[in-house]
Amino acid sequence: MKISVIGVGYVGLTQALGLAEFGFDVVGIDIIKEKVDKLNQGQTPLTEEGLEQLLSKHLNNNLSFTTDYSVIKNSDAIFLCVGTPPRQDGSTNLDFLMSAVNTMKPYLTGNHKLVIVKSTVPVGTTRKVYSMLRDNNVAVFFNPEFLREGLAIHDFFNPSRIVIGFDNNSKQYLNNLFKIYEYFVNKNTPFILTNWETAELIKYASNTFLAMKISFINELARFAEHHNIDIKTLSKGIGADPRIGYSFLNAGLGYGGSCLPKDVKSLIKQFEATGLEPKLISAIDSVNESQVKWFFNKIKQEYPSLEGKTFAIFGLAFKPKTDDLRESRGIAMIDLLLSQGSKIKAYDFVPNARANLLQKYINDHNIEILDDPYECVVNADGVIITTDDAKFTDLDWSKISELISNKIVFDGRNILDEPKLRALGFKYLGVGK
Ligand code: UDX
Repeated sequence: MKISVIGVGYVGLTQALGLAEFGFDVVGIDIIKEKVDKLNQGQTPLTEEGLEQLLSKHLNNNLSFTTDYSVIKNSDAIFLCVGTPPRQDGSTNLDFLMSAVNTMKPYLTGNHKLVIVKSTVPVGTTRKVYSMLRDNNVAVFFNPEFLREGLAIHDFFNPSRIVIGFDNNSKQYLNNLFKIYEYFVNKNTPFILTNWETAELIKYASNTFLAMKISFINELARFAEHHNIDIKTLSKGIGADPRIGYSFLNAGLGYGGSCLPKDVKSLIKQFEATGLEPKLISAIDSVNESQVKWFFNKIKQEYPSLEGKTFAIFGLAFKPKTDDLRESRGIAMIDLLLSQGSKIKAYDFVPNARANLLQKYINDHNIEILDDPYECVVNADGVIITTDDAKFTDLDWSKISELISNKIVFDGRNILDEPKLRALGFKYLGVGK
């Protein structure tokens, strides 16, 4: 079977590599020539575990990349994986998707083809795509992804469920899609088969629910620190109930990344467009939007003025094991500190995250991005942890205590060993503690 994947970002590239590993002939299509050229040379544009190995295994074998949409003519299935970024007002920009559909349309000739929308799209979009292609010989599906950055390849091969949205026209071609996903059928992965709109909302509702858990614990953290409540024990106590579960109850600086913030905001807009007021969902967003500011105010209280103070920032990407800076809470913190005249020495364990940050602040002399975490703390007035990378816990804090000017640590992810730090003479401030 020949498969095309349109858009080779996180989602599309992972999908293309996964399908190549299943043995299909896969072509990844992207409009960015530079990206396509790099991929054809075996270079990955993303920092993602396992990606490089799969690329070198399948490239020039059963996997290639092109900017030329005409390859679709020979495809049996086309996965649409282009980005659906947020507009300024939080609504979803579908321009890339619509343009991809229009560009591929002339090539949907010959054999009957499956068109599978994988991009996260507002409710009603797959129906729109179908209406654009109804004269072509295609069956249209919506099949959301639930890949976590940093674990994308792992998640591709071990999905918690496969959701497939279809309509009366595409129903009869479901078996063709099951053939592509035979690996998961054999693995007894739960399949959830439903209509397009339900499948579209499952994606938004899943991410919004995760965001809700985070905002919930973050709001409780604000209360906890007034009442001698241990926020981590609180999370354990809540999560022990299997109806609630432990995951996504870690209080911190809030959720970042390319998905959670944008999907919550998009769902708010979708409610509003329907004439409904999204009360709970709006609250999730507003707690998250204020979380970094709330923690920043805690930092501010420890100094007469932040002007001229130097801070070591540990954690630049939106989470560990990725170089993705989108909606990074660390960057939000850096910007607040810079606005007060502070100086920053920044570090992330992922080299490319440091390189990306350097690009962003290329002309700002108040920020240094260093390749050694210990260099960041030399003469610093405090350390701020912004991602929950366990490697920060394993740093030599005794060495840090000797290098730093002012022994204070602001643990924005509650990951450090508080008693150990206190024993080393640090003042420790966490989220909810
Ligand atoms: C998310 C979803 O998990 C995935 O299923 C979806 O398809 C894409 O979006 P990702 O963006 O990679 O994945 O990030 P995720 O691991 O979900 O974390 C999002 C943010 O929440 C991070 O900034 C993380 O630090 C934060 N977070 C997570 C918390 O603040 N507390 C927690 O308890 C968990």
